Amino acid sequence: MAILEVKDLTKKYGVGDGEVVAVNQISFSVEKGEFVAITGASGSGKSTLMNMIGGIDTPTSGEVLIDGKCISGMSEDELAIFRRRNLGMIYQFYNLIPTLTAEENIVLPWRLDGRKRNDEKVKEILSVLGLSERAEHLPGQMSGGQQQRVSIGRALINDPAFILADEPTGNLDSKTSGGIIDILKYTNERFGQTILLITHDEKIALSADRIITIGDGRIIRDEVMNR
Ligand SMILES: Nc1ncnc2c1ncn2[C@@H]1O[C@H](COP(=O)(O)OP(=O)(O)O)[C@@H](O)[C@H]1O
Ligand SMILES: [Mg+2]
Repeated sequence: MAILEVKDLTKKYGVGDGEVVAVNQISFSVEKGEFVAITGASGSGKSTLMNMIGGIDTPTSGEVLIDGKCISGMSEDELAIFRRRNLGMIYQFYNLIPTLTAEENIVLPWRLDGRKRNDEKVKEILSVLGLSERAEHLPGQMSGGQQQRVSIGRALINDPAFILADEPTGNLDSKTSGGIIDILKYTNERFGQTILLITHDEKIALSADRIITIGDGRIIRDEVMNR
């Protein structure tokens, strides 16, 4: 079964002459375990699409189904809980809480959910991310690449149905970017984690198994990479 189905999704901003159709009747689906890159020029509608898939922005029309459940019908509270349990979100600027350590940032979704801490899981995640020595550091004491790895840890902690990453390497140099993509690839291969990676960088997109190219709010290409 598809883990994600996007059906005729449309988002318009503004009215009259000022109207912008940021996402224009986009439909596609993603199977469990796929590693999909969504690419396209700046302003093509990638972030708007991601925010609707993540339930942060509401569509003008169309729908998003995650694991068969339509997210548009949910209340704000339902959506916040659903998102925390089913989606891992990664952003260009990490969005870490500056007063919490690396480890505290990673387990934040558990705290918000009132869930019990699982030491084994925390240890495994820190080790996969190469952060075992950095667990007690604050975001301000870490490099950009390390901070981004913490945000990946926070996204992975709940074993989400899928990971949504919007330009996760947009703020990093190419070597550090490669490390971040390697971690995403590893979680995809090792844990069968489904990944949706948004990037304007065509070279980064080539790490995915499938590339969906967006232009002017529409899908202009959807190709499976041969390896
Ligand atoms: N909140 C908003 N209000 C008005 N227009 C917006 C808003 N957000 C995005 N847009 C417009 O929608 C289009 C797509 O933007 P965006 O999804 O951010 O593209 P990308 O992430 O591919 O760079 C752009 O023309 C942008 O100016
Ligand atoms: Mg964007």
